[in-house]
Amino acid sequence: MRAFSLLATLAASATAALAATVQYDFSVDWVQANPDGDYDRTFIGINGEWPPPPIKCNIHDRVIVNVTNNLGNEPTAIHFHGLFMNGTNAMDGPVGVTQCPVPAGNNIIYNFTVDQPGTYWYHSHYSGQYPDGFRAPFIVYDPEEPFAGQYDEDTYLSVSDYYHQSIPWLTANKFLTLTNPTGAEPIPDAALFNDSQNIKFKVEPNKTYKIRIVNMGALVSQYIWFEDHDFKIVEVDGIYVEPTDASMIYITVAQRYTILLTTKNSTDKNFPMIASFDTTMVDTVPDSLVWNVTGWLTYDENADFPEPAVIDQYDFYDDFNLVPVEKELPYEPDYQVSVSVSMDNLGNGVNYAFFNDISYVAPNVPALYTVMSSGNLSTDATVYGTNTHTYVLGYQEVVEIVLNNLDSGTHPFHLHGHTFQVVERSEASPDDNTFLSYDSANPGTVNQYPMRRDTVYVRPQGYFVLRFKTDNPGVWFFHCHIEWHLEQGLALVLVEAPLEIQSRQVIPEDHYAACKAGGYAYEGNAAGNTVNLLDLTGEKLQPKPLPAGFTARGIVAMVFSCISAFVGMGFITWYGLSDLKTTELEVAEALGEPLDDSDESK
Ligand code: C2O
Repeated sequence: MRAFSLLATLAASATAALAATVQYDFSVDWVQANPDGDYDRTFIGINGEWPPPPIKCNIHDRVIVNVTNNLGNEPTAIHFHGLFMNGTNAMDGPVGVTQCPVPAGNNIIYNFTVDQPGTYWYHSHYSGQYPDGFRAPFIVYDPEEPFAGQYDEDTYLSVSDYYHQSIPWLTANKFLTLTNPTGAEPIPDAALFNDSQNIKFKVEPNKTYKIRIVNMGALVSQYIWFEDHDFKIVEVDGIYVEPTDASMIYITVAQRYTILLTTKNSTDKNFPMIASFDTTMVDTVPDSLVWNVTGWLTYDENADFPEPAVIDQYDFYDDFNLVPVEKELPYEPDYQVSVSVSMDNLGNGVNYAFFNDISYVAPNVPALYTVMSSGNLSTDATVYGTNTHTYVLGYQEVVEIVLNNLDSGTHPFHLHGHTFQVVERSEASPDDNTFLSYDSANPGTVNQYPMRRDTVYVRPQGYFVLRFKTDNPGVWFFHCHIEWHLEQGLALVLVEAPLEIQSRQVIPEDHYAACKAGGYAYEGNAAGNTVNLLDLTGEKLQPKPLPAGFTARGIVAMVFSCISAFVGMGFITWYGLSDLKTTELEVAEALGEPLDDSDESK
């Protein structure tokens, strides 16, 4: 016993002695780049460079990121995706949840220690901003990883969808508009590997490469494979897993997979590596879209770079069956959050996304700041407002999230501040009219040691069940990581152990200063009321519903009938809408815009 505790003390002090402080100074500014060789555009870069640099540190290091917003015309903020931020909730970074936007010309410091190993990423968490380029890997090296010594090189590979147009422009003109009543997401223009295309990934024969794969895209999941090379999956989202053979992965946006890939013992050929869109996630596949990106495992620069072979099916490894190295039986839940996902139009004609009919709207006061300024009322969900969809969680409990997907798309969900066990996940529904929903009396497959990660997909009209321990007091966002769907409100807030947050955490002065500089409220309830915290007058709410019986098709008809006034009336006949006049009037009324009679004469 004595010897053991001495060793433990030695180990602890050795770790402490090794821990370093790693500092990054980030000037966030606009940078021109052309990653697909097709289109020069403006990206959000760092220190005049795009792509932004990866952050790298060792486990237990302190990381300080000093961010100056030099964009001139947009606020910003950084989230460190997958890091627990235990005790430093204010450093998590999502705007409206743990901080205010940092206005142009201002500065904020993120300062935290990293006690998790593995592969993460950082990205702006402000208003759809990261697909404009503000994202990069965040790698935490761990000398004690279970597969230490089993590889020769440690490297990373990012994959991403890519839009030629800026996200604010797409959002305002193509996405959240009356002319897009079905909520069709803008279709990416290309796919990227390491923010480029046709990359030559240099390898030597007979070596093992640790490749950390990160999907930093906005919308689509990607299938990834290396021709003629199998590999072992060893880590997902920072969780070490039993090495698992695979020949292809399916990686949603925001997920990470670390693989060990052993090269062949000859150098006479180069092999394509491919990332390919899950095209079921885009509304239509235009002829112009190249939805594969190719690179090559490059054994010999002078050898051929062959075209990838056509495959007839995507035979990827199902992450549900991965087994964590640190084994835990399914936790026993104390508390359940049950949500249904749907998408629909609200009265302004725009298509929104909902958990249980609530579409997330950011509050006037970031929820963490409401915790800090609401005393004992911080345990009452009311103070966080109606449209933040907040659940207050107890301390040291097991929370179960049951999510039933009423939508016909695949969605990757992410929880901040935690990894969760993926206890159950259904198949996709067999047809449009069937909804597979969770039934506790009739459970699906539960693995002995459920997989854990921080981002997981639900299949079309299927469900999943997640469980996690509330061992990390903080305000944590749970949302669909498809950036378009987050903009549509597919998010909720978990306020975990608010009294513990109050007693243990501080908000640094420079974080409040960002609020003051931007004129944002930083105390009181969601509405910013500081006197009567239960009075939510002035809170931000979702738009009113459409009148009963109204559908997206009706809106399409209305919008196109206006267009048809210019292009000729044939359209209306084509649409088969005899009572268009009534439809038009109804929508106009719903939108609060009386129809102008003169429209008739056009
Ligand atoms: Cu990648 Cu809310 O985060």
